[in-house]
Amino acid sequence: MNNTDLSVKLGDIKLRNPFIVGSGPTVKTLDQIKEAEDNSWAAVSFKLAIDPFPYINLPPRYRWLKKEKIHIFTAETRLTPDASLKLLDDAKKVTSEILLIPNITYDGPDWEGWARMAKQFEEAGAHAVELNMCCPNMSFNVQATGKEIEEATGASLGSDLQALPKVIKHITDEVNIPVIVKLTPEGGRIAQAAEVSLKAGAAAVGSAANRLGIPDIDIRNPMGTIYRLQDNITLGCISGPWLKPLALRDTYEMRFHLDKEAFIIGSGGVNDLQSAVQQIMVGADAVWVCTETMLRGFDWLPKLLDNLKSYMQEMGYGRVADFRDMLLKNIKTSQELIVYKGHAVIDPDKCNSCGLCWKIGHCQAIIHPDGITNIAPERCLACSTCVDICPQKAISMEELLQQKS
Ligand SMILES: Cc1cc2nc3c(=O)[nH]c(=O)nc-3n(C[C@H](O)[C@H](O)[C@H](O)COP(=O)(O)O)c2cc1C
Ligand code: SF4
Ligand code: SF4
Repeated sequence: MNNTDLSVKLGDIKLRNPFIVGSGPTVKTLDQIKEAEDNSWAAVSFKLAIDPFPYINLPPRYRWLKKEKIHIFTAETRLTPDASLKLLDDAKKVTSEILLIPNITYDGPDWEGWARMAKQFEEAGAHAVELNMCCPNMSFNVQATGKEIEEATGASLGSDLQALPKVIKHITDEVNIPVIVKLTPEGGRIAQAAEVSLKAGAAAVGSAANRLGIPDIDIRNPMGTIYRLQDNITLGCISGPWLKPLALRDTYEMRFHLDKEAFIIGSGGVNDLQSAVQQIMVGADAVWVCTETMLRGFDWLPKLLDNLKSYMQEMGYGRVADFRDMLLKNIKTSQELIVYKGHAVIDPDKCNSCGLCWKIGHCQAIIHPDGITNIAPERCLACSTCVDICPQKAISMEELLQQKS
């Protein structure tokens, strides 16, 4: 385990491992930051600070829909710039290893305001500054419901490929600390946004991964809401494990379009070894973790880091870079896909004739004379839905020829 190196380098700064507490409600107080440091987190991204304040600032309303693995929120409290600066100042005094990264948004009419804000945090000792070009719960949410906005913030600005690099350039011209741009997948052009951000001088880019969505509603009480102490539904910001496949795609898209040297931070449902390694394998250098820290605090990281080291040893990886991007070459377009000929087969000893597979709407191959399930191989599309449907694990796929079809 000794020669396994978990550290990653972001410009001139070193993260002791790839785990950053993502900006959100778990990086608002000194106690949270100290706990994160004590539990080996490499960095904390502070809760968003907005200037001028307030923008939309409501008490938090969250739901953790355990069964669906969806976290969704409609309202959230941000920090004032002064509160964030004070937090930074206080944290500088009591921490030594954890990197302190304020997350900021400027909401005034002049873009120089962004630079002024970033400079203030640099002068106060921030290790890096993170630009919030991702929050869908600010002007993007207002736009999504068809209303006019005064200033584009968060996801609105982050998906504007013209304005985005101009704002970033104002900032990178002014500060020397690394500027991290946290982008949104909303708008569908995160790779392009990442590219223009890096060209404008950003040291790192990443995806917030959050999508705006509408939560489950009770169709017998459609005007009701699943939220507690809240009157309406509103578009909610989704995070947590439900996001994982989309979040992996965000990271993959960025890595695919960017140079190997680009520093990318992935996020979206990272909550264990598997999800973290997957993010790295599709191109992330580091990950932001928010929802899991809301649900489980910080103290699960040391065990995960031990497991990560053991995993790396087992796989023969010395550094994170050894498996970063590993999946890139294996992710193909449908034109390049190789599929093998085959068909489903039934194990008659396991089938109890429950009839679930008989109902598969697109399947013409499953027959059941006298209640005995059989498969006509010549009609089988080899789609494999029946394998997933069968509760008895009575169906498997048999490959016929190792050739491209
Ligand atoms: C309640 C909540 C508040 C958040 N606030 C911020 C924020 O202030 N700034 C920001 O850049 N991202 C914010 N995020 C996004 C997270 O940092 C993270 O990128 C995203 O939720 C996906 O990761 P996760 O599934 O680990 O939460 C917030 C997320 C949640 C759930
Ligand atoms: S693999 Fe698809 S087509 Fe073949 S039997 Fe199963 S469900 Fe039907
Ligand atoms: S779903 Fe499985 S157990 Fe049920 S009939 Fe089909 S093969 Fe048999």
